[in-house]
Amino acid sequence: MDCRGINPELVDEDIPDLRAVEKILALKKERNAVILAHNYQSPEIQFVADYVGDTLSLSMIARDAEQPVIVFCGPDFMVETAKILAPHKTVLYANDKAKCPMAAMITPEELRTLKKNHPYAKVVGYINTTAECKCEMDVCCASANAVKIVRSLEAEEVIFVPDQNLGDYVRKMVPEKTILIWSGFCSVHNMIQKQDVLSLAQVHPAARIIVHPECKPEVVEMADMVLSTGGMITLAASSKDREFIVATELEVVNRMVEDNPDKEFYAVEKAYCRTQKKVKLENVLNTLETLSPAVSLARDVIDKARLPIERMLAAGRADLATAEVKHDT
Ligand code: 13P
Repeated sequence: MDCRGINPELVDEDIPDLRAVEKILALKKERNAVILAHNYQSPEIQFVADYVGDTLSLSMIARDAEQPVIVFCGPDFMVETAKILAPHKTVLYANDKAKCPMAAMITPEELRTLKKNHPYAKVVGYINTTAECKCEMDVCCASANAVKIVRSLEAEEVIFVPDQNLGDYVRKMVPEKTILIWSGFCSVHNMIQKQDVLSLAQVHPAARIIVHPECKPEVVEMADMVLSTGGMITLAASSKDREFIVATELEVVNRMVEDNPDKEFYAVEKAYCRTQKKVKLENVLNTLETLSPAVSLARDVIDKARLPIERMLAAGRADLATAEVKHDT
């Protein structure tokens, strides 16, 4: 989609504040900025973004972007990861109040204690962590490559933090290793119950069940496929199947509905990420006008955290997706 000419139909229906959209698009050019948006962002934010994707895709795009300014519409840990990968760029939070609760569920001190108690274990940390925690990791991972990364390690013992559900999924997929799992969780995925999916499956028995690995083990067990949000969006478009029960954040399902009018998608309606929805058009506009708030991390944190993140990127995707390019930038 090329946003230099705004489709008036789309704007009338989906974009509540056309003036803000126009200003954002003009300022983006003036500032030589690129706008990145995670798949949970609301439709109007996805509309002004240059790239929309999952955490792994957006990290790669942040690293490789030509523009000197990145405006990141996503939670704190994604924005900080972009800064670590592109320290010479100005990396801006679209809204610095969008803080992922899971990323605060383990502290660097807690991780250091774990490492002390398990000196032979390798530390694999989910990207949903603070920059300071990433400094303590051997390798970082995303939902799109967690299994691949843990499987590839030579160590027999692995510390996996902080998501207990993703950790459980990895443990089942890599049974040859001893995996110590922290007790963090994503409150959005964790609220999806087995009964929610069962109820949908009773009404739609032909539907394929696709589940994010941050869901509880009993929900993951019901899945035909376990995928990152990007992997789900790609699967929905490419699959020959026509009906899907989708256990992840609601915006991802809304996207599938919009992209695939010939297919049916059934969502767990309560799975709504209030944190990411804190990013509004007015925040993006304000960020572009003021070039703030910018990510500011200590040089030694950037230097230490970069290696585990680069190892994550080097591992690549182990599922289906790449970020969708929304606009010519
Ligand atoms: P992905 O979009 O990478 O699947 O992860 C979802 C998530 O953790 C959002 O915080």
